[in-house]
Amino acid sequence: MSRVIIALDYAQPSPALELVDRLGDGADFYKVGLELFTHAGAPLVQALRSRGKRVFLDLKFHDIPATVAGAVRSASRLGVEFLTVHAAGGRAMVEAAVEAAESAAESGEMAPDAAPVQILAVTLLTSLSRDDVERTLGRSPVDPEQEVIRLAELAVGAGAHGVVSSPLEVESLRHRLGPGPLLVTPGIRLAGGEAHDQARIATPEQAARAGADYLVIGRAVTGASDPFRAMVEIHRTLEAA
Ligand code: C5P
Repeated sequence: MSRVIIALDYAQPSPALELVDRLGDGADFYKVGLELFTHAGAPLVQALRSRGKRVFLDLKFHDIPATVAGAVRSASRLGVEFLTVHAAGGRAMVEAAVEAAESAAESGEMAPDAAPVQILAVTLLTSLSRDDVERTLGRSPVDPEQEVIRLAELAVGAGAHGVVSSPLEVESLRHRLGPGPLLVTPGIRLAGGEAHDQARIATPEQAARAGADYLVIGRAVTGASDPFRAMVEIHRTLEAA
């Protein structure tokens, strides 16, 4: 069954931790992104870990291999379990991230009780239109879905443990990558829910049926009048799927 990652898209740690305490064991992971981490940093990750929560650090690293490897080692020491890098950083960068995660695990350079860091590759940002992709790559025509598959294969070939994609790409990625890599998908909305700024969306049930391992859910829970009930409803639809 697909599992649930709640995106803590807050500017301050207090509403983030209040939500975590309200949801109890309802979520499998909590995702800390750029906004919250830039403000609250390592202490916030430690606050989640001390509550027994699993942490997904979504900072989308994209730098030279040595710098990314160092950042992965720091994340290992913090007890982060999922971490994103851009597949476009290239084969050597993804390999360096994976090797740093493995060597931190082997040398015991990790937070106590933490599992080894799993490296998830981001392919194309879902905010990019076809035009944006063509301008960025400097060639046209470009088929964004083929580009997502190409970058996912590059990252998984370099050892990445999984890929982040929109729910609409999960089925073709599962087909191309096989059963091994983790497929993690944002863009989840409850049936009849508001899309907000997401264009490529699916319900939890559709994403689960397409083969997603983890669903990243933000506003469908964090923006609900009763986040706990929204969470229960998501688990109910996932069980049915
Ligand atoms: O509120 P919503 O459910 O749209 O939140 C989705 C979360 O997933 C946000 O934290 C967003 O940054 C993240 N994300 C995304 N699309 C990607 C990668 C990450 O929406 N391609």
